[in-house]
Amino acid sequence: MSIVLSGIRPTGNLHLGNYFGALKNFVKMQHENECYFFIADYHSLTTHPTPADLHGNVRQVLIEYLAAGIDPEVATLYIQSDLPETAELYLLLNMNAYKGELERVTTFKDKARKQPDNVNAGLLTYPCLMAADILIHRSEKVPVGKDQEQHLEMTRTFARRFNRLYKVDYFPEPVAYNFGEELTKIPGLDGSGKMGKSEGEGNAIFLAEDPKSIRKKVMRAVTDSGPTEMNQAKPEPIANLFAIMKAVSSPETVEYFDDQYNKCTIRYGDMKKQLAEDIINFTAPFREKVKEISADEDYIRKVVKTGKEKAHASGAKTVREVREIIGFREF
Ligand code: TYM
Repeated sequence: MSIVLSGIRPTGNLHLGNYFGALKNFVKMQHENECYFFIADYHSLTTHPTPADLHGNVRQVLIEYLAAGIDPEVATLYIQSDLPETAELYLLLNMNAYKGELERVTTFKDKARKQPDNVNAGLLTYPCLMAADILIHRSEKVPVGKDQEQHLEMTRTFARRFNRLYKVDYFPEPVAYNFGEELTKIPGLDGSGKMGKSEGEGNAIFLAEDPKSIRKKVMRAVTDSGPTEMNQAKPEPIANLFAIMKAVSSPETVEYFDDQYNKCTIRYGDMKKQLAEDIINFTAPFREKVKEISADEDYIRKVVKTGKEKAHASGAKTVREVREIIGFREF
């Protein structure tokens, strides 16, 4: 039995990348482990949402988590700002994190490029807050997609540094976790990079998206003019379509189109039609659940309250012990 934690920023609806990178693994693990799943609303402040957006997005992501199969009776499902001890641990970790190493983080460099007018300190110290999220429950496994690998590496560095500095063996060194051998990266539909909410219109397919819109997005996905040689390697946009298909379609379907590709007889239009229908089928139960849960305000309130209490029990204990280790003592 391990302590497992994962999280997501409330900056839009859940997409297939969120599901296959993190949620699916988490949902599988929740019954055999001590699991924490949280909504990273402090993190989302790095991009300055309005108060209305912040609350609405947290609510939506919470509903979608539940719809995706997180059982709040089994796992601890909570909102990050409901555990303000996270902020204290973040402050303490910041004291032993260095400007140079933070500036080298790829996601920081990307964000600084994308929002040059808003390179705030929260962006720079994002890995410290993420480490606080993880270490506050002394988590050992973190189901995430490949995009979070470097953040996990930083978390291990901070955990090790803390242990060395105070000559303790307190924090574990958490590992990024996926049931497959490799961490997952679900690509987007625009022919390059990962599926993500900030990667541009039409790039991501959301779990709660209506079938019409799914069809439209998939049919518009970037392809090329087709293979000209038998068994030739797939260029990125095509490999991406196959990667998404592998996630949602049956192995027979993937094999069929793979075969067609290798024989140069593939028709991308047919492949996309099939892919769209498979995504629609795959996400259908999810859409139903979202509707059901959205209508039950009492249930949502109860889930949030229970999550807050359970997260506090674990998080407050860690911060108490960390204070003791650092040397804050009661008079
Ligand atoms: P976020 O909100 O970008 O994404 C949430 C989760 O979804 C995964 N993911 C993907 N996996 C595979 N392919 C993709 N295209 C894809 N897009 C997103 C992410 O890896 C992530 O697991 N910094 C985190 C949130 C966070 C967190 C944490 C996660 C804050 N503190 C502590 C784990 C532990 C983030 O921005 O994820």
